[in-house]
Amino acid sequence: MHRLSTIRTLESRDSDMRNYKIAAIPGDGIGPEVIEAGLKALAVCARRDGGFSLETEHFDWGSEYYKRHGAMMPADGLALLKPFDAIYFGAVGAPDVPDHVTLWGLRLAICQPFDQYANVRPTRILPGIKSPLHGIGATDLDWIIVRENSEGEYAGQGGRSHRGLPEEVATEVAIFTRAGVNRIMRFAFELARSRPRKRLTVVTKSNAQRHGMVLWDEIAAEVAQEFPDVAWDKMLVDAMTMRMVLKPGSIDTIVATNLHADILSDLAAALAGSLGIAPTANLNPNRQFPSMFEPIHGSAFDIVGKGIANPIATFWSAVMMLDHLGEPAAAARLMRAIERVTVNPSLHTPDLGGPSTTSEVTDALVAALNADNA
Ligand code: NAI
Ligand code: MG
Repeated sequence: MHRLSTIRTLESRDSDMRNYKIAAIPGDGIGPEVIEAGLKALAVCARRDGGFSLETEHFDWGSEYYKRHGAMMPADGLALLKPFDAIYFGAVGAPDVPDHVTLWGLRLAICQPFDQYANVRPTRILPGIKSPLHGIGATDLDWIIVRENSEGEYAGQGGRSHRGLPEEVATEVAIFTRAGVNRIMRFAFELARSRPRKRLTVVTKSNAQRHGMVLWDEIAAEVAQEFPDVAWDKMLVDAMTMRMVLKPGSIDTIVATNLHADILSDLAAALAGSLGIAPTANLNPNRQFPSMFEPIHGSAFDIVGKGIANPIATFWSAVMMLDHLGEPAAAARLMRAIERVTVNPSLHTPDLGGPSTTSEVTDALVAALNADNA
């Protein structure tokens, strides 16, 4: 059995109702805890909005599935996911299965074939949450990181020879294609243009990496010509880490390679208060395949089963999902409810220094959604 259950949250039989099919893959570790919380929130969003319904199907893929079946998901997994409007993903990774097996067996096994090439990661300081940086408030840190999600350092190119011998060799080849860089640059410039400050920073490492990163820079400059209204600059990734800490207000939209953005977004999450609030969308912008929405964090072995996983990242990922599905009013209502919860420090989970549990935060969010009359 790879399909666990079908939970229908059809609120009306009205034929005008927009219906969306959501594939839920809770996965490993705290994934099931936060996805359960997120689905509760989404069900209330649909009920509150009244114009759409969500039909959710669960898939029990992940490390336990791997131990039983020898694969993280079934061979026809992608075909099963293809008809869905969106995928809601928890986390993947278990202490007793190698991380490259779990990541490539499930998360990347979905992102790559579904060509979810744009990984979008908003970061800002939510009301009530304190940044570890001194003296900065909400308006001083409001970023959106665009991560190239299909090639670069995580293209999967490379191999190992002469295993175990002294002459053993391993290669991990970073791939940069004109098509791949072009589309992510265009996506990032468009996103930067849609934001009030119209500012983009292109992160690079073209001083040390003379081929792929130089192509990356050249294409950025070419695409920039089409966006004269976007102010853009280029920054080496090492210097970028300093700028994020020392001059956060000088940054708005960021575009970076798969590896660079992976690292920078954990830093961004920590600067905004916690990894437990950081959301992400793996987008297939031309909508040929379903896009996937997930918290940035992983399985969090240290807190599994304790009931204290912060569900905010998963709620915020649901906001991104509703936006992508074309339900901006419901997305905005959910975001308002998140902020009404975070503003109250007694509703913070321990990662934010608070006393609350996952279910207390979820109950407060549901109450805030129900109380929102905007
Ligand atoms: P992690 O994100 O699981 O945990 C890092 C730290 O952040 C831990 O101290 C954890 O308790 C805390 N944390 C994370 N999410 C939290 C939340 N919602 N609430 C409160 N605290 C939270 O990263 P780590 O430890 O490097 O990796 C653990 C496993 O997860 C590994 O197997 C790794 O491969 C996998 N992983 C999977 C990801 C995914 O599925 N997208 C992303 C990152 C890691
Ligand atoms: Mg990461």
